[in-house]
Amino acid sequence: MDALDLPCIVHLKNGKGATLSLATAGDGTALLSFYRAMPEEDRLVLKEDVTTADWLDRFLQKLSSGEAISIIGKVGGEIRGEATLHRTFHGWSRHVGEIRLNVDRAARGQGLGLELARQIVKSAIDAGIDKIVAHMVESQVAAKRTFEKLGFHKEAELPGHVTDIHGKRRDLLIYANDVSHIWSAMESMLGDFRPDRATR
Ligand SMILES: CC(C)(COP(=O)(O)OP(=O)(O)OC[C@H]1O[C@@H](n2cnc3c(N)ncnc32)[C@H](O)[C@@H]1OP(=O)(O)O)[C@@H](O)C(=O)NCCC(=O)NCCS
Repeated sequence: MDALDLPCIVHLKNGKGATLSLATAGDGTALLSFYRAMPEEDRLVLKEDVTTADWLDRFLQKLSSGEAISIIGKVGGEIRGEATLHRTFHGWSRHVGEIRLNVDRAARGQGLGLELARQIVKSAIDAGIDKIVAHMVESQVAAKRTFEKLGFHKEAELPGHVTDIHGKRRDLLIYANDVSHIWSAMESMLGDFRPDRATR
């Protein structure tokens, strides 16, 4: 897998180019502005309140520790989308990574979400993650379609598991993609060569 061929330019359906790159601490302020500009309707079911300075502090700490990998998508120099892989280095889910993905409303439907998702999946595989999950609620139709296109399937549905920002309970859908077979194939191909990966 030639995972981290970033930054790269991808061509959107409207003919514009989007630059995808790994987020660094220097992107923090622009990322916070991106999330603060997001309408409440889009933040309704986000796991965290991404509009606060506290969120940014935690996010940057995770970037620096490697517990988060973030890819930003810029069109015309402005952040229009972001994908994050969250992982942990300890405990029974250390082989699992969770993807969170958001594209600005005005930039949707042009292929940016799918390209960001594709790159973050590659980054997850490169980081040695065996199983990738994405959490969503029933109404996130575009998210379902995007992840299905990348080989994810609905693995579980947890009734009433999400409380949205208005306090309404919603069912949580867990989409998953077991990519361990990719590592197995690479290991058989490469024999003794073992890059860094989650210890199982
Ligand atoms: C999910 C999301 C990131 C998709 O971003 P996007 O840039 O619009 O996605 P793309 O243009 O790359 O489309 C990807 C696929 O989803 C489909 N899709 C996009 N919007 C859709 C919609 N409203 N209804 C049905 N399918 C849709 C596209 O048709 C495309 O499939 P195709 O190539 O077969 O046509 C974006 O809608 C978003 O930010 N949603 C809110 C947050 C969210 O749901 N995040 C995911 C949970 S972690």
